[in-house]
Amino acid sequence: MMSKLPPSASIATALSGDKLHAPSAERNAEALTDLLTRIAPPTGQALEIASGTGQHITGFARALPNLIWTPSEVSAERIASIAAYRSEAHLPNLNTPINLDACASGWSRESMRYDLILTVNLLHLISTLAAKTLIAEVADALTPGGTLMLYGPFLRDNQTTSDGDARFHADLQASDPAIGYKDRDTVLGWGQSARLIPTQCIDMPANNLALVFKSP
Ligand SMILES: C[S@@+](CC[C@H](N)C(=O)[O-])C[C@H]1O[C@@H](n2cnc3c(N)ncnc32)[C@H](O)[C@@H]1O
Repeated sequence: MMSKLPPSASIATALSGDKLHAPSAERNAEALTDLLTRIAPPTGQALEIASGTGQHITGFARALPNLIWTPSEVSAERIASIAAYRSEAHLPNLNTPINLDACASGWSRESMRYDLILTVNLLHLISTLAAKTLIAEVADALTPGGTLMLYGPFLRDNQTTSDGDARFHADLQASDPAIGYKDRDTVLGWGQSARLIPTQCIDMPANNLALVFKSP
C-alpha cells in the first residue's frame, strides 16, 4: 500500500455517486488506448493493476472489445469508483473490479492466467522491492506468450530527463526515500530476471515510457 505520498502523486476528485475523476487519467487516456490497440493481443483476458478511478479501463474495454478486462485496486474507495464507471458503461467485456495488492508476494498462485497485464503510473510510487515483486508475480500470472506493459515516468541512465520529472522524483523521495522513479534499464533487467523478454520501449507523451515484455 502507498503511504505519505505527496499530493501530486495520485490526484482524484469526487464526481457523482462513487465516481472519482483523475485529471491525469483523462490526459493520457487517448495515448494509452492508442498504444494498446497496437500492442495488445487480439483476444483473451486482460488485467489492469492499480486501475485507479476506473476511467482508463472503461475506455480500454470499449476500444478493445475482444479482450475481457478485469480492473484491480487496493483502495476500497477506488474499487467503488471503478464499479460505478463499470455499471454506467454497460460493457459485456468489463468485469467487476477485484481487490489486488499487486506488490504482495504470492498473489499469482491464486490468480487466473492473463494474456495481457498492464499498469499505469504505479512503479514510481512503490519501493524497489515492491516493484520487483510485482514484476515477478506478473510473470507467473501471464499465459505463455502473454504481454506485460508498464507505463509511467522512468529514469534514463539513472537520471531524470526534465525539470518537472526531477521535482516530482525529489518530492516522492522526500515523502519516502524507498520510492521514486525507477531506471528504465534496471526495470528491463528485473523483467528479464523474472524470465520475461523485453520487446519494446516506446516513448509516450509527457516524457513517459511504455515498457513492453513478452512471456516465453
Ligand atoms: C497514480 S495512481 C494511478 C491510477 C491509474 N492507473 C491511473 O493512471 O489513473 C496509483 C494507484 O495505485 C494504487 N496502488 C497503490 N499501491 C498498490 C498496490 N500495491 N497494488 C495495487 N494498486 C496499488 C493506488 O490505490 C492508486 O489508485
